[in-house]
Amino acid sequence: MPLLENHSLKQLNTFGIDVNAKLYADILSENDLIAVFSNPVVKENKLLILGGGSNMLFTKDYDGLVLKMSIKGIDVVEEGDDVLVKAGGGEVWDGLVKYCVAKGYAGIENLTLIPGTVGASPIQNIGAYGVEVKDVFESCTAFEIATGQLKTFTKADCEFAYRESVFKGKLKEQFIVTSVTYRLSRTANLQTHYGAINAELERREIAEPTIADVSEVVAAIRVSKLPDPSTIGNAGSFFKNPIIDQIIFDDLLSRFPDIPHYPAPDGRVKLAAGWLIEFCGFKGLIEGNTGTWKNQALVLVNHGGATGQEVYRFSEKIINTVQQKFGVLLEREVNIL
Ligand code: FAD
Ligand code: EPU
Repeated sequence: MPLLENHSLKQLNTFGIDVNAKLYADILSENDLIAVFSNPVVKENKLLILGGGSNMLFTKDYDGLVLKMSIKGIDVVEEGDDVLVKAGGGEVWDGLVKYCVAKGYAGIENLTLIPGTVGASPIQNIGAYGVEVKDVFESCTAFEIATGQLKTFTKADCEFAYRESVFKGKLKEQFIVTSVTYRLSRTANLQTHYGAINAELERREIAEPTIADVSEVVAAIRVSKLPDPSTIGNAGSFFKNPIIDQIIFDDLLSRFPDIPHYPAPDGRVKLAAGWLIEFCGFKGLIEGNTGTWKNQALVLVNHGGATGQEVYRFSEKIINTVQQKFGVLLEREVNIL
């Protein structure tokens, strides 16, 4: 299996940061993984697993081996009222959503238009519009780097939480997800309460929506708020929405009565990072080649030619300002490399 040297990653990260990888290989099958790991050069280098590069900020060239996950395939492995759909880790996530919506398999229609790959979907438990991948996750198969063995993970094994899983926690950088199986349903259980979905359905005079309607509405809402990475580099929400203790929240609410907030597990409270950032005057701000998006302050953008370091420094400024104003520490959702 040939390793490419000094390979450009510019087209392989949605921020469009112009960096190179010292070594690079495209992984098309589980056998490719076995072949790559039999090369002694691999053990001498640090390793980065790359999907669609839509949740990454490169701050410098990658001084190691990048494995780009391109394992394809979508198969229905069980079909009753529930439908088990297995997809290769390198399948494009939104392609899987479109396939399922067209077949009438319900469950991931609210996750329409999220960039990236199937293999990354359990890593941060992708979520949008009231649904998270954990709600439909059945199992995944992953290659253990230390042993070269394939292991199966159930939903319980994955320890999913808001933008978290075992793969970001105690098993960080130990496994490569090669396929994921999702439990979908022929009977839709539509989630339309979140954000503007119901309002948009009403505006379109759709009284009895199908999963295709919900998918289209979610796509329209997303396009209105989020920049398209093919024209403006970005990685979606740059920070997580912070989850804080009730007692700290009570104090914030007394000082900022309009602060948006949502119930979180264990009696805690989730805040809207976009609101905090906008309140600090950052929304739509342009600083050098970077800034925040005009319609969504939580999204940092590359207006063209930004370096990863420039975007990173801007994110530090946001963290410091929000901390001073609200006493809340923002945590980056994007992986910094
Ligand atoms: P990458 O960015 O390539 O990798 C992300 C992390 O996963 C890295 O740590 C990488 O090493 C690891 N990884 C990737 N593939 C594998 C694998 N096969 N095995 C093991 N580790 C792997 N996210 C949401 O949750 N909800 C949203 O609504 C949302 N909206 C977005 C909108 C835009 C415009 C953009 C640009 C991003 C958005 N995101 C959203 C973030 C992003 O789409 C998700 O995090 C997505 O899952 C990243 O997939 P990827 O394949 O691009 O992963
Ligand atoms: N808000 C502002 N100003 C802003 C942005 C948001 O005041 O500039 C307020 C909104 O008015 C609203 C609240 O913040 O009251 C929440 O905003 P929104 O519904 O746009 O969602 P979000 O919390 O900013 C989260 C996810 C998104 C996901 C959307 C929809 C995180 C970190 N982000 O954003 O995920 O698409 O909800 O479900 O949880 C991503 O992870 O990359 C991502 C885009």
